[in-house]
Amino acid sequence: MKNKVLVTGGLGFIGSHTAVCLYEAGFEPIIVDNLSNSKISALHGIQELIGYKPSFYQNDISNIPALTKIFEEHKIDAVIHFAAYKAVGESVEFPLKYYQNNIGGLLAVLETMKAFNVNSVVFSSSCTVYGEPDQVPVMEVTPMKEAESPYGATKQMGERILNDNTNWCNTQCLRYFNPVGAHPSGKIGELPLGIPNNLIPYLTQTAAGIRKELTVFGDKYNTPDGTCIRDYIHVMDLAEAHVKAVERLIENKQEEAFEVFNIGTGTGSSVLEVIKTFEDVNQINVPYKIGPRRSGDVVQVWAETTKVEQVLGWKAQRDLSTMMKDAWNWQLELSKKTFNN
Ligand code: NAD
Ligand code: WQD
Repeated sequence: MKNKVLVTGGLGFIGSHTAVCLYEAGFEPIIVDNLSNSKISALHGIQELIGYKPSFYQNDISNIPALTKIFEEHKIDAVIHFAAYKAVGESVEFPLKYYQNNIGGLLAVLETMKAFNVNSVVFSSSCTVYGEPDQVPVMEVTPMKEAESPYGATKQMGERILNDNTNWCNTQCLRYFNPVGAHPSGKIGELPLGIPNNLIPYLTQTAAGIRKELTVFGDKYNTPDGTCIRDYIHVMDLAEAHVKAVERLIENKQEEAFEVFNIGTGTGSSVLEVIKTFEDVNQINVPYKIGPRRSGDVVQVWAETTKVEQVLGWKAQRDLSTMMKDAWNWQLELSKKTFNN
């Protein structure tokens, strides 16, 4: 009998890749998603990759009766909780929407887990909890700064809620840095709805001719080339980190009930380095201009990864060139689909 892992938000960008990696590692993914930021085509992509259609429930996670039904139908061994809204700017405009979904959703998932005696969860946190760090790289013990957006606050609060429930629930709290790339097959990837806010989808759409040019938000920062630095992490590496985290929970290897890990490569790349790597690896020119700074941008952040390597036994395997190659491959697949529809 395979261990069953409930993947909330399992048709989203990170959830869909994780569902595939879970299956490949011998788990049975059970997916719940309300399609608020994804499409059913992700389920078809997963199906093509794993060779069968995983159990899928189109439900809102805040709907406790609907969640209860899933737990009744499946003996769930662990939960990976991805389902949340994630757009920083939108969270400033619609804070209630973010607190409702990200906090209300987490509470509903935890209530249901508790009712069914399921006590293992992997939580999607974010490097956003560190804010503008005083020192880089950031370590897990680096104190959090006050959140700069309601979105960031929901991640800090989510961590706090899980920390307050350690008397019954074991948590692997994964703080992702900047997830990018796609499955190398091009069958699943990120689906940005509307005009992308994030660098990589904007870049790939510009390369595809959907956007006229990319704006680099500021080149006079105090960094080697003047542009901001981030720790970009391939979504496949990220998905594999979730498998490790689930294994640690199921095999009861946790040393503490609440464990937190940085999930990054440990290397920072500037915006200009990202553009250049994309152009070199894909042999394509990306029109860009230097524009004003984007308000709220952190100047530079990358992960200290010693803890995750030593304790979780996970290390990122894919470099920036692979991320840019797979991101472009996915954009080409997406463009084909749009053209054919
Ligand atoms: P995503 O939007 O692609 O995936 C989230 C999925 O959850 C979507 O398919 C959406 O339809 C679903 N969802 C949202 N609210 C729901 C609800 N109430 N009920 C059921 N389904 C719901 O986002 P992602 O990039 O895959 O991110 C996954 C998680 O990782 C989120 O919690 C996000 O905050 C966190 N995270 C993401 C990033 C990033 O840059 N992508 C970085 C750090 C942390
Ligand atoms: C990356 C770099 C921009 C777009 C966001 C969230 C964070 C986390 C990850 C969820 C920055 C620059 C961007 C563009 C640009 N998500 N840029 N032109 O802001 O690091 O992080 O996603 O938890 O919470 O804030 O990612 O991809 O938006 O930006 O120059 O058109 O690219 O200034 O330096 P960010 P991003």
